[in-house]
Amino acid sequence: MQSIQDRLAQRARGKAPSPIRELVPLMKLPGMISLGGGYPNPETFVFGRVEVSFKQGSKIVLEGAELVAASQYGPSDGQPKLVQSLLDWQQKKDGVRLEANQLVVLNGSQEGLFIMPYLFLDPEDTVVVSEPDYSGALGAFGSFCKNTLTIPLDAQGLDTAALAGVLSQRRGAGERMPKFIYVVPNGHNPGGVALSLERRKELVRIAEEHDVLILEDDPYQLVRLDASQTPPTLQSMAPQRVVRLDSFSKIFTPGLRVGYASGPAEIIRQFVLFKQSSNLHTSALAQALLDKFMRTAGYEGFRAEIRKNCERYRVNRDAMVAAAREFLPEEVRFNVPTEGMFIWFELPKSCNAKRMIDADTRQELVIAVPGEAFSTRGGCQNCLRASFSMVSPEQIREGMKRLGRMVEKELARS
Ligand SMILES: Cc1ncc(COP(=O)(O)O)c(C=O)c1O
Repeated sequence: MQSIQDRLAQRARGKAPSPIRELVPLMKLPGMISLGGGYPNPETFVFGRVEVSFKQGSKIVLEGAELVAASQYGPSDGQPKLVQSLLDWQQKKDGVRLEANQLVVLNGSQEGLFIMPYLFLDPEDTVVVSEPDYSGALGAFGSFCKNTLTIPLDAQGLDTAALAGVLSQRRGAGERMPKFIYVVPNGHNPGGVALSLERRKELVRIAEEHDVLILEDDPYQLVRLDASQTPPTLQSMAPQRVVRLDSFSKIFTPGLRVGYASGPAEIIRQFVLFKQSSNLHTSALAQALLDKFMRTAGYEGFRAEIRKNCERYRVNRDAMVAAAREFLPEEVRFNVPTEGMFIWFELPKSCNAKRMIDADTRQELVIAVPGEAFSTRGGCQNCLRASFSMVSPEQIREGMKRLGRMVEKELARS
């Protein structure tokens, strides 16, 4: 396996740690008199007490030393208490035991989608994405390199046979191999599909064969719409090759902006160096609130809360599926998602979703996202992403009825 150092992009090579940030752990040693950090004096902090009550009945209070820690600058890899909670969370959730130096708290998983290409992609590099794929990831990768190897997505997730073919061909031709393979394994945004167990195994095998890293972006893992089990994470199958992004946006609250990256210690160290020179660390207050909630609710309590919220999404998903069957022309194809918030509709090839939206959305008063927003090469023009997370079952039914009329008009036009 090629070393991490040799894989790094030019911009990330030889990056030295911040001399001040590296002193932070030493400042905590008992008896230490620190004349080091340029921290503001806690006496000047404005919070006296922070109390948050949760809808499920529990309440947390931050005061005294805990509140000072939540108000002060903190370590770049995350608040130590939250890091411990997340290590336990990962073990219980995925059966993966990580060390503290294998995890870094981020400003949402989106920050990881920026750091990964920052670390690994030079302009002449390539990265594997799917068609369609999450526009936020495509945008972040595109900031560093324009070359994508685009692999189709079907009902089983990323088409691993196509991936194997493309990588073997590239290698045979002596072309540069991709730096990493980007995968959203559950409740794909926008594809609404999950990567099957067989494909997961195959993906790991292919990555091993060609010595390519995997970026596993999994914000919908626990947004489960059925009682079925989540297949094992890619990280659990190949811990040395996978950088995994977890997010609390869909299962706790997105405005707090807390997610985390985990993976090989050497890569996580690079993430931490990035944070040292970008935003120092994720909000200590946000981390403290999440940590307190996790400790108060306990693992089972938190999972139960998530399951309860997923019930709402399940009802909405069922409403959208039923309305799609009732109101959309038969030629429109879609998959019933088992996780996440999206259904991906494929209209006949002659249709153009953007043209349809431009022509009729103001009149019909229903909106969905045209598929080309999720393609790196102007593809998916006949596709649409519809989200069922923010609307009621009644609105979904009415919305799909209107969408059905729009599709009929587009079919007539095309
Ligand atoms: C696939 C995927 N990855 C990452 C994100 C970003 O999530 P976060 O709020 O954790 O930054 C999203 C948000 O919608 C997403 O759909």
